[in-house]
Amino acid sequence: MPLHLVARATKVCLLIALTASASRLALAESNKTSASNLMPLYVKECAACHIAYPPGMLPAASWQRIMRNLSQHFGADASLDAESVKQISNWLTNHSTTESGGQAVPEDRITRSTWFRREHAEVPSSVWKRATIKSPSNCAACHTRADQGNFDEHFVRIPQ
Ligand code: HEC
Ligand code: HEC
Repeated sequence: MPLHLVARATKVCLLIALTASASRLALAESNKTSASNLMPLYVKECAACHIAYPPGMLPAASWQRIMRNLSQHFGADASLDAESVKQISNWLTNHSTTESGGQAVPEDRITRSTWFRREHAEVPSSVWKRATIKSPSNCAACHTRADQGNFDEHFVRIPQ
């Protein structure tokens, strides 16, 4: 290959590698926000029925709508006193994602976000319905360290 073409090919490869690691980094960062830095009140009140979903996985508009409708929370009653609602709502808003311009995602579900669909595109629809998994919202069924806010692909085990 002529030298200038080799140089160009190298540049393209570098660019691809950089882009890939940048999006990795963005995810790793959003995961880190979620790990040990969670507001204790949020963990206390919002991790009884499912994991404490990382705040950086939903936009502000969705968190705020969730916090306004806790008595009708995805078929459950997750009501809290007004002061706790205010504190948790503020904290979630401050740590929310600005991806999609902060606009609400469908049903205010992490599992309906564009990035979630992209990351899970290779999971066949039959897998989500397994008795051991039940729902895409059940992150911990496959992400063995979800309770630590760690969604790294190295700790994914899909149960049979
Ligand atoms: C009484 C039980 C209960 C409590 C307490 C609770 N939730 Fe939930 N939550 C649910 C159920 C049930 C679902 C639906 C799960 C499913 O579809 O499999 C859900 C779903 C969610 C989802 C959407 C997950 C997805 O599909 O992407 C979010 C976000 C969420 N809860 C946030 C919160 C927040 C914030 C709090 C605290 C204010 C909270 N939850 C407290 C029961 C609860
Ligand atoms: C049926 C099992 C399953 C469930 C349930 C599940 N995931 Fe995943 N998740 C996967 C698989 C498989 C991958 C792709 C891993 C890979 O790239 O090798 C993945 C990838 C991811 C990634 C990207 C990780 C990386 O290192 O690039 C994130 C973030 C993530 N999931 C978050 C979640 C969240 C949040 C929930 C719950 C709301 C969830 N997942 C529920 C199986 C699951």
